[in-house]
Amino acid sequence: MKPSLVIAAPTSEELERALTERFEVHALGNAPDATKLPSGAREARVLVTSGTRGASRALIDSLPQLGLIAVHGVGVDKIDIDHARAKGIEISTTPDVLTDDVADLAVGLVYAALRRIVVNDRFVREGRWEEGQRAILARRVAGRSIGILGLGKIGRAVAKRLAPTARELIYHNRLPVSDVPYRYVSDVPLLAAQSDILIITASGGPSSSHLVDATVLEALGPEGILINVARGSIVDEAALSTALREGRIAGAGLDVFANEPQVPADLLALPTLVVQPHQGSATVEARRDMAQLVIANIERYWKLR
Ligand code: 8YV
Repeated sequence: MKPSLVIAAPTSEELERALTERFEVHALGNAPDATKLPSGAREARVLVTSGTRGASRALIDSLPQLGLIAVHGVGVDKIDIDHARAKGIEISTTPDVLTDDVADLAVGLVYAALRRIVVNDRFVREGRWEEGQRAILARRVAGRSIGILGLGKIGRAVAKRLAPTARELIYHNRLPVSDVPYRYVSDVPLLAAQSDILIITASGGPSSSHLVDATVLEALGPEGILINVARGSIVDEAALSTALREGRIAGAGLDVFANEPQVPADLLALPTLVVQPHQGSATVEARRDMAQLVIANIERYWKLR
């Protein structure tokens, strides 16, 4: 009989096919309820989950044989890490293979927001160009001060892409990093005040919750643009909605939301906002590599035990 494995969140068809060949797969689907695990799942030693679904304490506790939480992604903010560690459960992620694609999307959102790519697409499709209406002028991307909140691998990849066109590249991190030519700014409101475009690439979790709040948005200012490809929890969405509505910042590009897949209706009503359904790592190439890495992580765990 094949060993049992639980998939807590939809990942990729390729990965799920490969896992089904080796394991008795129990998929929890879109609404995993730890108290209603399918029979046989309780024997699982491996739990595959996404960065956004993670693994709650209740789910971890409902799998008494669990030895590995294999994340299809890099974010571990939705995993009860302390609880998993206390139980000797390993956690693996899929770093590096998604870095460039997430960074590309951040850059794409910068261009979409400043060059009005999405609103102008609508302008053409709605026949307004043909009717003789004029599209509103966009704003230039080059020559801006770009602030990166969280200079990890993804933040660095974003910085590398935008530094050649930026007036200045500045960043805030828990600690300054020594091997970059960018200027460190000691707190988030200061970073926002000195940025024309503020790009969030920090990790999620309690320490970064609502790091970007009304004060930070006020500091970013009426010409400022906010981009988030990290975690929705980092931004106070109610404050963002107010700031966009009142013109306290100029625009935003968001790939992530606090309560995915729900996006607050008042945010969606704002034309100065460009949204994506959490697509940072969603390229054929990254997802293929992420699937292979999840499998490699599971194989390594399986061999070692
Ligand atoms: C994914 C992510 O959308 O890596 C992460 O933490 O948020 C994304 O890459 C997700 O984990 C895909 O399963």
